[in-house]
Amino acid sequence: MNEHDSEVISGMLSQRGYMEMPEAAPQAHAGADRIADAGADGMADPDIMIINTCSIRDNADQRFFGTLGQLKKIKARKPDFVVCVCGCMMQQEHITTRIRRSYPWVDVIFGTHNIHEFPDMLEELYENRAKADNAKAAATQADSYARAKHEIRSSKDTRVDRVYDDADEIVEGLPAKRLYRHKSFVNIMFGCNNFCSYCIVPYTRGREKSRCPEDIISEVRNLVADGVKEVTLLGQNVNSYRGVDREDRQWDFTDLIYALNDIDGLERIRFMTSHPKDLSDRLIEAFAKCEKLCNYIHLPVQAGSSEVLKRMNRRYTREKYLELVRKLREAVPDMALSTDIRVGFPGETEEDFAQTLELAEEVRYDSAFTFLYSPRPGTPAAEYEDQIPEHVKHERFNRLVETMNRISAEKNAAYVGRVCRVLVDGPDKKASGMLNGRTEEFKLVDFEGPEEITGQTVDVEITESNTFSLRGKLL
Ligand code: 5AD
Ligand code: SF4
Repeated sequence: MNEHDSEVISGMLSQRGYMEMPEAAPQAHAGADRIADAGADGMADPDIMIINTCSIRDNADQRFFGTLGQLKKIKARKPDFVVCVCGCMMQQEHITTRIRRSYPWVDVIFGTHNIHEFPDMLEELYENRAKADNAKAAATQADSYARAKHEIRSSKDTRVDRVYDDADEIVEGLPAKRLYRHKSFVNIMFGCNNFCSYCIVPYTRGREKSRCPEDIISEVRNLVADGVKEVTLLGQNVNSYRGVDREDRQWDFTDLIYALNDIDGLERIRFMTSHPKDLSDRLIEAFAKCEKLCNYIHLPVQAGSSEVLKRMNRRYTREKYLELVRKLREAVPDMALSTDIRVGFPGETEEDFAQTLELAEEVRYDSAFTFLYSPRPGTPAAEYEDQIPEHVKHERFNRLVETMNRISAEKNAAYVGRVCRVLVDGPDKKASGMLNGRTEEFKLVDFEGPEEITGQTVDVEITESNTFSLRGKLL
């Protein structure tokens, strides 16, 4: 969701004539130090930096403040530099208060509900600066002008700061700059009403709002006309999609899938994320019936113990989840499954954790995002008394990762010898002459081939497997 928000921000700014310098954007793992180096020794030297934040776990928060601290150095060297911050973290009062108070070099603050206002906010900032510069220039001696300008630029006076609690309605028609020509994210809904007891998202993204089905369908049609073959429908819980069309008819998620499946030229439909409590039999049936709906589902389980699930407010039991998996595999025997799974929820006993491991063995996930529980201020679980000590969390986490990786490797090994349809994403960033792409089951495949087949769907024979990817031969 955040990644797609960044694509929208990028699309809106490109439309106004700003130019993206992707090489100036440090990868999340590169750390804050590189940011301060922007402009040094031949590195890209942007005029504006926008930080889109996540607040799902504490390490994202920490990293953000580390990065923000580093930006002061750029500002000192280059007073005109513009620092913009946005995303989920801005939807939390304690975070914006801290920024407003301790980071005067931040120029624009906006939240998840007013992304569409950002280009105007940026222009407002430039106007504020011009006004402040003029006022100062009129009142200041020429020799101290440079210093005065610097002061203005580091001050809060020119800052443009607007964050809303929730959105009244969905703003349609925003451009988005896609990373790939042949595939695209498509938001179908925003927000979440589930309030899982550990999760900050309902507070940062507001209540559920579904887009009108006609708007989604026409967006997908336009994307297909622009070369897109695969769409990933996005929502915090796509299963609770409820769109109302222009004839006042209610659509659920499965209705939408059937309608999209009829679009000529579209090859693949994926979606993220599905809450197990709302996964309907009709949607399971759609996997078998809609040839474009990929045989892959991300179905976050979170934990394997019904007791823990209850305290997480997930509203399904271990048994109900396993039943869903059984039904999915009955409908589509080689359905690939991935999950979000976590250790260290407050009160998690060794027995609870053993049930998580057992569930993983039973489902045999193709892949998993594994997490350590991270208390989020403002959520109920952060107040629970029986928090698990860090060393216990880490020890369980290591065991979980080991199990998940072993299962992933075993599942991938079963692909060796098969021929898969692979949608080619493009050249491999590390190995020259190599391409990579995804199978319908979302398996990453590396193989040798010409760059020109990027965006095409080709047959690849799988020759080797690893924990996280497959290797193959282009047929
Ligand atoms: N701590 C750890 N993981 C979390 N997630 C959500 N909230 C937390 C938290 N407080 C995980 C969930 C969710 C995924 C997107 O992030 O597993 O499915
Ligand atoms: Fe968070 Fe639960 Fe909503 Fe997912 S369904 S975003 S975990 S509250």
